[in-house]
Amino acid sequence: MVNQQFVETDHAQIYSAHRPDVPPEIAQKSVNFLREKFDGDLDIAVDVGCGSGQSSVILTPFFRLVYGLDASEAQIQEAVKNRAYSNIHYRLQEAESLPFETCSVQLVTACASLHWFNLEVFFSEVRRILVPGGVLVAYTYHSLRPFFDCPLKKKMADSLYDQIYEELYPYWPKEVHSSLEKYKNVQFPFEESRRIPDVCQFFNGRFSDLIGFVESLSAFQIMKKSDISKADNFISRFGLRLKELLEVPDEQDSKMIKLYRDFYCIMCRKE
Ligand SMILES: C[S@@+](CC[C@H](N)C(=O)[O-])C[C@H]1O[C@@H](n2cnc3c(N)ncnc32)[C@H](O)[C@@H]1O
Repeated sequence: MVNQQFVETDHAQIYSAHRPDVPPEIAQKSVNFLREKFDGDLDIAVDVGCGSGQSSVILTPFFRLVYGLDASEAQIQEAVKNRAYSNIHYRLQEAESLPFETCSVQLVTACASLHWFNLEVFFSEVRRILVPGGVLVAYTYHSLRPFFDCPLKKKMADSLYDQIYEELYPYWPKEVHSSLEKYKNVQFPFEESRRIPDVCQFFNGRFSDLIGFVESLSAFQIMKKSDISKADNFISRFGLRLKELLEVPDEQDSKMIKLYRDFYCIMCRKE
């Protein structure tokens, strides 16, 4: 059965607004890996668990067609609304049943989604649809944080984030633990498998992006469902301490802040 996370429209809207597009560098590294042993046309890439499209759009410069598949209708609606491209098709579709012909796809990606799938069934579908030499790329990330050059501020930010992730920990659905462990115990379906060095993405954002990111986490959504006043209290305590740290004036959200997140990425190749 497909999990019930991400099915609600307000969660999908927060997700779409506060989860930035993933770094194009990951698409480039995926294509480089594919090209090491595959020299045919780059016809189809499939992004499974595409959410609101942030991990699908980066594939568009490389492939004739990109399919973004997700089990949540609300997420697909956000993708169609906010990240439409002429060569992307978004579809409501579960990872365990991939609607492609055998040996027809060059690349399958799963960004921050692999841990939600029934891996035995998903991997067998990936094995079926990939061309020989085709590639599966699974990658994930856990937090979006402000970047500080000043070591003291960095220490304070790390300690604040350690604290909020500790508070959220009991609320993570069990599936997320595999992602938090960087998929270290996942048995990938192909023998040739490579973990690439972490990719760190920097970009400019606002205080509200940092708050929105935490609100988009499934652990926070579960805390909110189980005890709304606890969730309100959690987010306002976090907001106050973050404002102090970032020196953001109370009345506005215009200050641009340097933000970063780290991606953990595994690539493997069908024989
Ligand atoms: C954390 S989001 C990642 C979204 C996007 N890839 C990104 O990086 O922003 C995980 C997504 O996986 C989807 N998902 C969970 N289980 C799924 C399944 N069995 N089949 C397809 N999608 C699934 C959820 O609906 C959700 O949109």
